[in-house]
Amino acid sequence: MVGSVNTTTMLHWVFLIIFASKNKLTMAKLVYIDACVRENDSRTRRIAEPIIKALGEKYEISTFRLPEMNLEPLSPAAYAERAVKIVPEWAAEAARTIAEADRIVIAAPFWDMSFPSVLKVFFEQTSLFGITFDSDDKACYGLCKCKKVLYITTRGMDIPTGDPREQGTPYIKALSTLWNLGELETIAATNMDYSTPEEIEAKVSGCIAEGLEIARDF
Ligand SMILES: Cc1cc2nc3c(=O)[nH]c(=O)nc-3n(C[C@H](O)[C@H](O)[C@H](O)COP(=O)(O)O)c2cc1C
Repeated sequence: MVGSVNTTTMLHWVFLIIFASKNKLTMAKLVYIDACVRENDSRTRRIAEPIIKALGEKYEISTFRLPEMNLEPLSPAAYAERAVKIVPEWAAEAARTIAEADRIVIAAPFWDMSFPSVLKVFFEQTSLFGITFDSDDKACYGLCKCKKVLYITTRGMDIPTGDPREQGTPYIKALSTLWNLGELETIAATNMDYSTPEEIEAKVSGCIAEGLEIARDF
């Protein structure tokens, strides 16, 4: 009797493990790029985290926490190496992960009218010929399979998305055409540096609700 219970339990676990790994293998992929330099104090990250948690139900998530990555812009030496097709292994690997992603979420605060430079450096390092984009004799074209990008941000001033002073959304849209990332949706909390603590909390909650709604069909 004890033996048969053990066998049943074991079989149960074997099926669970097979199901879980099969599910993981067949799960669509999402890349989460976190450029929140103020890390755990970041309002932008606070908005992004529950949305990412919800998306984790249907996507296998690869996270890049840029403030922890000691990213450096392309130096003359790195540029010369790139010309002979030598790129840092981490950058090639990150670019491959991006190219294979079905969805991308970017969380980045509004800095100097766009986003922190660490995000631009990450894009610079991962914008790799033959991985994220290619070209023929006429023009460049994207190699990524992503269909949707969600960009989450918070802005200090009262600057709405689409305002000419807001250069985060247009940049990511432009990159999307180079890499072939599909449509872009922006979630933004604005006037954060001129709001009361209560207003800030309400804006954060509102953006989380908006993001969770988007996450349903994302
Ligand atoms: C270095 C730096 C640059 C900033 N530049 C701008 C700016 O150009 N325009 C603006 O509206 N707010 C600017 N802000 C304010 C931030 O956008 C705002 O505080 C935002 O909510 C910060 O997001 P976080 O809490 O996720 O770090 C800047 C803040 C910092 C620290």
